[in-house]
Amino acid sequence: MSFPQVRMRRLRKNQAIEDLVAETVLSPSDFILPLFFDENIDKDRPVASMPGVVNHPLKGYDAIGQSIADSGVRSVMVFGNPKSKDPKGTQAYAKKGVSQAAIRGLKENSDLIVIADLCMCEYTDHGHCGIVHNGVVDNDATLAQYGLIAVSQAEAGADMIAPSGMMDGQVGAIREALDNAGFTDIPIMAYSAKYCSGFYGPFRDAVSSSFGGGSRSAYQMQCGNRREAMREIELDLQEGADIIMVKPAMSYLDIIREARDRFDCPMAAYQVSGEYSMIEAAAGNGWLDGDRVMMESLLSIKRAGADMIITYFAERAAKMLR
Ligand code: PBG
Repeated sequence: MSFPQVRMRRLRKNQAIEDLVAETVLSPSDFILPLFFDENIDKDRPVASMPGVVNHPLKGYDAIGQSIADSGVRSVMVFGNPKSKDPKGTQAYAKKGVSQAAIRGLKENSDLIVIADLCMCEYTDHGHCGIVHNGVVDNDATLAQYGLIAVSQAEAGADMIAPSGMMDGQVGAIREALDNAGFTDIPIMAYSAKYCSGFYGPFRDAVSSSFGGGSRSAYQMQCGNRREAMREIELDLQEGADIIMVKPAMSYLDIIREARDRFDCPMAAYQVSGEYSMIEAAAGNGWLDGDRVMMESLLSIKRAGADMIITYFAERAAKMLR
């Protein structure tokens, strides 16, 4: 049968019917809100390139937790900007480091699930995601540092560890370090397929990365590679990842879809800073409807196959869904 017996418009007649046949539905519990904490400030500092996003000082956890909980969002991902940076990124695993303090503060003053981003780029003076020897990031020397960071974040109370540095073997090294320290029940959300993307631009501004004009192309993936992403994910699962991630999201929906079809584990997608800023900039100029495009972008990421979305829109989108 086909037209005129078949008429697709019959099921588009009104919202109630459309809701019945909806294939993808967003919920506030799908979202993870990234939170930036900065040791160098004592009141909120707006991130210039990300309208509506701020850096928080190490206080006021109660209010932050309450406002997020009120929106319906239940999970956050913590990033820190330390007082001092050095070649080895020692503040990344300091007992009273910025991410440890923020994690502890949030856990003691809210019911949020706190996921710790684990990387060294915010903590090194050269801005690379690991230990640099002779101008290159030394993969294996970096793994030992990642183990220390993971354990310090778990000791601070993190519910989950999310390594974003794209070192080979990082998931296995972190799993081993966590297990040896008794944290056998702390899951790892692996930034598995993380591309070397220009869409991270505003983030580097947010965390005051000292990276300047450098490149992470020696460890992050090249943008045109699809099969390689599947290998990265497969390796992370073999090393013990509990949740995999594709990042960025919107320009990589094909990667999310393929991973969904191939792997049965939970999958996150990271709608990164540049994706957020693009939408906000266009909306701010009146060139598109910000709320509408925000929801459409999130829906498309879920439709592609992501179970959860890390997004700076988390609170705003959750409020619209209530
Ligand atoms: C750190 C890290 C980055 C992001 C998350 N973790 C930056 C980078 O790799 O350059 C990007 C997040 C965003 O752009 O929103 N490795």
